[in-house]
Amino acid sequence: MKIAVIGANGQLGTDLMKVLKQGHEVIGLTHKDVEVTDPNSFSVLREQHPDVIVNTAAFHKVDQCEDEPLKAFSVNAIGARNIAAISKELGAVTVYISTDYVFDGAKKEPYTEDDFPAPLNTYGISKLAGEIYTRQNHRHYIFRVASLFGVAGASGKGGNFVETMISKAQKNEPISVVDDMWMSPTYTFDVANIIKAVLESKMPFGVYHATNDGCCTWFQFAKEIFNILGLTPSLTPIKTEQLPMKAKRPMFSALESVKLPRYGIQPRDWKQALREYLIAKGHLSK
Ligand SMILES: NC(=O)c1ccc[n+]([C@@H]2O[C@H](COP(=O)([O-])OP(=O)(O)OC[C@H]3O[C@@H](n4cnc5c(N)ncnc54)[C@H](OP(=O)(O)O)[C@@H]3O)[C@@H](O)[C@H]2O)c1
Repeated sequence: MKIAVIGANGQLGTDLMKVLKQGHEVIGLTHKDVEVTDPNSFSVLREQHPDVIVNTAAFHKVDQCEDEPLKAFSVNAIGARNIAAISKELGAVTVYISTDYVFDGAKKEPYTEDDFPAPLNTYGISKLAGEIYTRQNHRHYIFRVASLFGVAGASGKGGNFVETMISKAQKNEPISVVDDMWMSPTYTFDVANIIKAVLESKMPFGVYHATNDGCCTWFQFAKEIFNILGLTPSLTPIKTEQLPMKAKRPMFSALESVKLPRYGIQPRDWKQALREYLIAKGHLSK
């Protein structure tokens, strides 16, 4: 397959490039090459005529999305609309990367592909709108991912949670982390492999949840990072209400897939994935 990856130098995009190159022709497109909000920048897609267009572009600073809803909708929703339209024009499959934040957290157990989205904040609403626009190209896959950590670090967020924790510990800063908000920590390398498997096995179009297996609170996630690395910083569990945050967040947004196992895809446990990430990043020797 010829696969174009938009956001190729982002956290997920970097691993997609690495993984998809094994067996496919991959065209990496950075923000300089393609601006998803501007169809005039799509000439490279027309020239290359890919079979698949993977859109990882997003404005995903969740609190900033509350202050800048127009930007959030422009990138996350209208951008998705534009990519669905160009994919349709080229006869290509669209892959859109969505989020656990399309859910409100009321379920209090992992959300599956069968659950109904009800986002609490502008980011989640704009990404849900992006999902709906993506469906305008019948030949689409929507992958909902969550709490990503990848070797490249999120360009839109300036790193990831794991690196933030390690950096604070190395500086001997006291660390407080919420212990009442649950999610599924997820390694971008594993997401990239799931996407590759779904594309290669031509699974039915639609929505898939693509996270590592299991869930934890952010505090438990931090604790596991320090356990694996043998670090002993001062780590305190706190409540979400103690943190001043503009955007309302779901208190439970763990995802699981009921669809992937039907096709033999079983994501591995997040702790195993975390260990592998720490090795890949050079924090841990094998
Ligand atoms: N990070 C998470 O924890 C998380 C959780 C749930 C869902 N997601 C979703 O997962 C996807 C990938 O996240 P990530 O962590 O890999 O993000 P990332 O590192 O910020 O990567 C996003 C990429 O898209 C590019 N981009 C941003 N705006 C663009 C635009 N208007 N047009 C074209 N390219 C643009 C960025 O380039 P520049 O940096 O040069 O602008 C960057 O290369 C996103 O769709 C996000 O909504 C992420």
